Amino acid sequence: MTYAFLAIRREGPVEYLTLNRPDVRNAFNDQVIAELTAWAAATREAAAHRDVRVVVLSGAGKTFCAGADVTWMSKTVEFTEEENLRDAVAMSQMFNALDALPVPLIGRVQGAALGGGAGLAAVCDIVVADESALFGFTEVKLGILPAAISPFALAKIGRSAARELFLTGSRFPAARAREIGLVHAVVPAAELDSTVERYVRELLTAGPEAIAAAKALIPQVWGRSLLEAMPITAAAIAGRRVSTEGQEGLRAFLQKRSPSWAKDTAGNKGHKG
Ligand code: COA
Repeated sequence: MTYAFLAIRREGPVEYLTLNRPDVRNAFNDQVIAELTAWAAATREAAAHRDVRVVVLSGAGKTFCAGADVTWMSKTVEFTEEENLRDAVAMSQMFNALDALPVPLIGRVQGAALGGGAGLAAVCDIVVADESALFGFTEVKLGILPAAISPFALAKIGRSAARELFLTGSRFPAARAREIGLVHAVVPAAELDSTVERYVRELLTAGPEAIAAAKALIPQVWGRSLLEAMPITAAAIAGRRVSTEGQEGLRAFLQKRSPSWAKDTAGNKGHKG
């Protein structure tokens, strides 16, 4: 599939996905939403075949993402209620498709991640931000609200920070974004790519099925009582222990060698790495 607003580069098992609408600071309209949703479906398929093991999400130009396209949203006044609802569901489905990717999604944030842009950061597993980047759930400043992104943002930043930041719509620096769990590493601009690459290399040393299982486990366990979680966690580890990948990883450690999935990845040093 060809995309008008996404740029894609594959390097080995790493997919570099770039939002590519820099003239409007990578704001997303209905077409970008459709493209990201289609890309996520294709990547799920590629991940099943191990063609993709890690994705890095970036924004072209000087801004990661300015959120929903305000021009597009202002035109929705001409839509019927049914069309508006369909549009809103499509946006939720896009965030959900990105959130549930079976491979790690690393966000590389420079400039700003505002509104739905902060929502994109929230659906990333790991976010590396330029120390000068600004974040914000700015929707209320426009008289709207952070609705589609709220399940993902709340899961990352919790209710207390959401009550302040959703209601004020204020912009906040990367350091604050890290404090509230939206960002994991804050670095000078010159170290953005090298920090992302460190995470990529680290992820490539772990079992791809184990990563997918660990990622799926988090939403399954989150919010459940210990008693409810126990059968889920027991089934999860029991399955991994006897899996081909789990057996290979355990044997590789005991035999003091790299597991099969890590052999082709630069920087891996097996169990001592
Ligand atoms: N939707 C549509 N167009 C947008 C946009 C958005 N969310 N954000 C920026 N743009 C457009 C601007 O209208 C401008 O268009 P123009 O060149 O035709 O005037 C262009 O992108 C560049 O924007 P500008 O503000 O000049 O760029 P900047 O680099 O100085 O600042 C931002 C970048 C992201 C900080 C700033 O554009 C901004 O605050 N955008 C709004 C973000 C927001 O509140 N998003 C929530 C949406 S729900």
